[in-house]
Amino acid sequence: MVMRHVAVIGHPIGQSKSPALHTRWIKAHGVEADYTAIDGKDEDSFRELIRTLPEKGYAGVNVTIPFKQLAFELCDERTERAESVGTANLLVFHDGKVIGDNTDIAGFRAALSSMALDPAPRTARIIGAGGAAPAIIVALKESGLERIEITNRTASKAIELAERFEIKPIGWAARDTKLGEIDLLINTTSLGMEGQPPLDMFVGSLPPHAAVIDIITTPRETDLLLGARERGQKTMNGLPMLVHQAVPSFEAWFGIRPDDEPAAIEFLEGLK
Ligand code: ATR
Repeated sequence: MVMRHVAVIGHPIGQSKSPALHTRWIKAHGVEADYTAIDGKDEDSFRELIRTLPEKGYAGVNVTIPFKQLAFELCDERTERAESVGTANLLVFHDGKVIGDNTDIAGFRAALSSMALDPAPRTARIIGAGGAAPAIIVALKESGLERIEITNRTASKAIELAERFEIKPIGWAARDTKLGEIDLLINTTSLGMEGQPPLDMFVGSLPPHAAVIDIITTPRETDLLLGARERGQKTMNGLPMLVHQAVPSFEAWFGIRPDDEPAAIEFLEGLK
């Protein structure tokens, strides 16, 4: 069988957990392939990679920060899901064409439903309007939430997303006000990540039934999640979303759908 290559491209990319995750599935399913991490460096070298990788035997790539929007722009064809967010985190190289998809929406939806929140959340506040926010907004809308708010240090970015997706912008200074009716709080910023400043936000007024999601994966439990857990609230870090967005990527390249999500999440929890 021909060796097929797949990879994740981002910048920086050293900390990516995707190679360990996909390599686990490649081995488990006996696929003749390898999955590596490629530093996309800058926009020009990213373009060059997308142009040259198909002829080097690549079946496709995952794309991560900061190239998801450029990846979308470079595609010859795009799925409806990619169109709905305007970014692509999955590229499939097929018949000389680059096909762009977005599996972050389904990834977030699957991760959210694995929390089995009861009653289902009706209101959410999203902190941050960077690269991860659009797919999460679409996922929340698809999940039927009635009210979605977004707040961001740079107000213009929150307002832009609020207008595009018809949700409610909140000023950054007001980010921890009126939390009493919020069922779901989601941090999509880099605040609280190892080496970054903490998320400076008082969330003690969230109702007891509220759930808190932080899409950060290092550390596994940010101060935001620790505080919520200590208050008895349900919490989730970024690993379930990572695994659930990876499943359809693997399936798109190899035609096999991994179905060991809980074990895969546990595997990543145990990695350094
Ligand atoms: P990008 O915006 O390039 O996609 P990202 O890592 O996806 O980058 O997003 C970073 C997010 O973390 C943004 O919401 C960013 O806020 P700004 O849009 O105002 O930059 C947020 N962020 C990063 N550092 C921050 C800080 N010190 N205080 C508040 N928000 C911060």
